[in-house]
Amino acid sequence: MVLVFRRLSRTSKRNVLYSILFVFVFLYFSGLWSRFFERPFSEFDYPLQGAIDGLVEKLIEGHPPLIQAINPYHGINLLITSPGKCSTRPGEHLRLVYLIKSAAGNFARRDAIRNSWGFEQRFSDVRIATVFLVGTSSNSKVARAIEEENRMHSDLVQADFVDNYYNNTMKTVVGLKWAFEFCPNARFYFFSDDDMYVSTKNLLRPALDFDSDSNFELYSGYLWSGSRPMRHVFSKWFVSVTDYPFDQYPDFIAAGAYVLTRRALLKLYYGSLFTRPFLFDDVYLGIIAEKLKMKLTHSKEFHFFKKEYDVFGYRYVVTSHGYGDPQELLRVWNEQKTAGNA
Ligand SMILES: *[C@@H]1O[C@H](CO)[C@@H](O)[C@H](O)[C@H]1NC(C)=O
Repeated sequence: MVLVFRRLSRTSKRNVLYSILFVFVFLYFSGLWSRFFERPFSEFDYPLQGAIDGLVEKLIEGHPPLIQAINPYHGINLLITSPGKCSTRPGEHLRLVYLIKSAAGNFARRDAIRNSWGFEQRFSDVRIATVFLVGTSSNSKVARAIEEENRMHSDLVQADFVDNYYNNTMKTVVGLKWAFEFCPNARFYFFSDDDMYVSTKNLLRPALDFDSDSNFELYSGYLWSGSRPMRHVFSKWFVSVTDYPFDQYPDFIAAGAYVLTRRALLKLYYGSLFTRPFLFDDVYLGIIAEKLKMKLTHSKEFHFFKKEYDVFGYRYVVTSHGYGDPQELLRVWNEQKTAGNA
């Protein structure tokens, strides 16, 4: 090999070197290189290494924690907490709490939700609360408008971190923490993005069945099974082997819309104290669920891809993605309300 190489002309030598270099660059950027270092999912574990399900069960029962939390996101300060949101008379509870992850500047989307599926007085006999989870904005105009918005509506939960797609796991942890601390008396917690269509009516219909059992565990939405981490360096979802060494993710529920019962919320909240953060919030909750052996339930009426709209086709839809246009959301929701489906 070396001898052959020596006999080549200078140009050919250069071409051979370039080719080798190209192959390495290709292997690196395409992520194929990383694949060699992946470990099989059958060996799955994630820090804290080892079992935490016994610990979490003890915490739910009310025992004090025996080990220190490791998730730094629990230390994030809440700047706005809307503390009265879930207050009830003794013995009463809320049926449903909407926690909507929203980017600081998305004022129009929040207004459309307040005037459609997030409207708290939608049903006279069902107590619903709606809060929006936001981070901070470096734009002083946006920052001031947020304060004004909260004075008007008192429905924001703002935490001290910069709002950005890659900070979504922070936002989710803040949501779990807020629900745990400020809204302990709700049956169902629905986490969602601010570009969703939601039918509160269809969401609550099946939920009524196990309303009486406050210990029921449900974690449901659009289920992803068998996904693999993206190793392609330029992918929006790139993850290094150091951050996640396995060739597959645990099952997870898409983060755009999912519903939790109180018990499922407690498990994810306590679980998140003892699970190292991960870049993507849906995978992160999937990791916690895997460690706690939670059952994830796929719901076919949670549409991850926008379901094409027609009046009758939306009869049973619980959620559909793709409603970033506030006007469209209002139009569709009002039509479904008139049709008796929302
Ligand atoms: C996430 O929030 C932290 C804390 O505010 C900030 O320092 C960081 O830049 C944010 N990340 C992104 C990707 O914006």
